Amino acid sequence: MSQPTSPTDQPEVRKGLAGVVADVTAISKVNPETNSLLYRGYPVQDLAATQPFEAVAHLLWHGELPTADQLAELRATERAHRALADDVRAAIDLLPTDAHPMDEVRTAVSVIGASEAAGLSALEAGGSPEDNVARSVRLFAALPAIVAYGQRRRHGQDVVEPRDDLDYSANFLWMTFGDEPDPVVVDAFNRSMILYAEHSFNASTFTARVITSTLSDLHSAVVGAIAALKGPLHGGANEAVMETLAEIGSAERVADWLDEALAGKRKIMGFGHRVYKHGDSRVPTMKAALDTLVEHYDRRDLAALYDALESEFVERKGIYPNLDYPSGPAYHLMGFDTGTFTPLFVAARVTGWTAHVLEQQAANSLIRPLSEYVGPDERSVPR
Ligand code: COA
Repeated sequence: MSQPTSPTDQPEVRKGLAGVVADVTAISKVNPETNSLLYRGYPVQDLAATQPFEAVAHLLWHGELPTADQLAELRATERAHRALADDVRAAIDLLPTDAHPMDEVRTAVSVIGASEAAGLSALEAGGSPEDNVARSVRLFAALPAIVAYGQRRRHGQDVVEPRDDLDYSANFLWMTFGDEPDPVVVDAFNRSMILYAEHSFNASTFTARVITSTLSDLHSAVVGAIAALKGPLHGGANEAVMETLAEIGSAERVADWLDEALAGKRKIMGFGHRVYKHGDSRVPTMKAALDTLVEHYDRRDLAALYDALESEFVERKGIYPNLDYPSGPAYHLMGFDTGTFTPLFVAARVTGWTAHVLEQQAANSLIRPLSEYVGPDERSVPR
C-alpha cells in the first residue's frame, strides 16, 4: 500500500491524525457542519429527552432501540451485576485514598478483566461476539458501584448496597449518596449519561479500537480507553472546568480573570473541540439539564458565573463550549466530587467503547500506521 505523498514527495504527516478517516463505523455520526450527533441514526438530543440510559446502551450495542422485553431483560441482567464484587473492592482498598479516581476505576476494570479471563489464553480471552456483548453488559452494570464507592471511600464512608427497585440512573445516585434521589436530579443525570455515551473516533474510543485490533480482549481495550480518557484534553476537562469556575469564584471576576488567563496563554477548559468548530451538538441539552438543577438547588450564583465566562470567552475568542462545560457544574450540583466527574464519563462511555470493540472485532484489521523517521542517519556504535 502506498503512503500519501506531498508535492515535495515527502510522506504527508497528519499530526494528531487530524482529518484522517481511519475506518467506517455504523455506531455514531458527528456532523460538525450541522452541529449534530446521531447514535445509530437517532439525534442524541431526542434520545436524551425520551429514553432511559439502559435503552441507549442497547441501541449502541445492537443497532436498534430495545423492545419492551429486551429492555426488561437488560435491566434484569444489569440489576444482577450491580453489587461491588469483593475482589474489586479489595483492589480499590489497596490504593491510597488520594489516588486519582480514574486510577481506581482503571484498576477496578483491570481486576474484573483478569477474573473474567482467568484460565484463558490471550487468544481465547478475545471471546465470541456473544461473550463480548455479555461482558459489555456486566461491565456497564458494575461501573456505578465502583465510581460510587470511590467517592464514598474518600469521605470515609462505607459501600451502599444497590437497590433493586431503582433503575440504572436512580440506583447510581443512591449508591453514591445513600439518599433517595429526586426525580429532577435523576433526569439530569440520565441525560448526561446518554450525552456522554458515544462520540465516534475520539481518542479513548480509538485507543480501544487499536487494542482490539491486536485481538486483545474487551477489558484490556476498556482499560486503555480509560487511560486515554483521563487526560485533561479529553475526559479530564469536566474536572478542569469545575476547578476553573472555583478559581474565578464569581461572575464579577470573569473579565479580569480571563485577561490574565489569556495573557498567560492558558487553555480555558470546557471550550473548543477538535471536530466541532461552531458549537458542540450536546451542549444545549446538557445546559437545559443544568438549568433545572440550578433551579432545584437554588444556585443562581453558579449560573451567573457560568454564563459570564461563556459569553466573555466566546466574544473574545469565538471558541464555543463543549459538553464538559455544562456537565462539570451539573455534576457538582448533584453532589459529586470534582475528581469523580471523569469516572462518571467512564460509566457512560463504556457503552460506546464496547460497541466499538464489537464493531472492530466484526471487521478487524490490525491498526498499525507508519511514521516518518527524522532521527540521525545510520551510524556505527562506538567501540
Ligand atoms: N482555550 C483557549 N484557547 C483555545 C482553546 C481553549 N479552550 N481551544 C482552542 N484554543 C485555541 C488554541 O490556543 C489555538 O490557538 P492558536 O491557533 O492561536 O495557537 C486554536 O484555538 C486552535 O486550537 P487547537 O488546540 O490547535 O485545536 P485542537 O482542535 O487541536 O484542540 C482541544 C481541540 C479540545 C484539544 C482544545 O480546544 C482544548 O484544549 N480545549 C480545552 C480542553 C477541553 O475542553 N477538552 C474537552 C474536549 S471535548
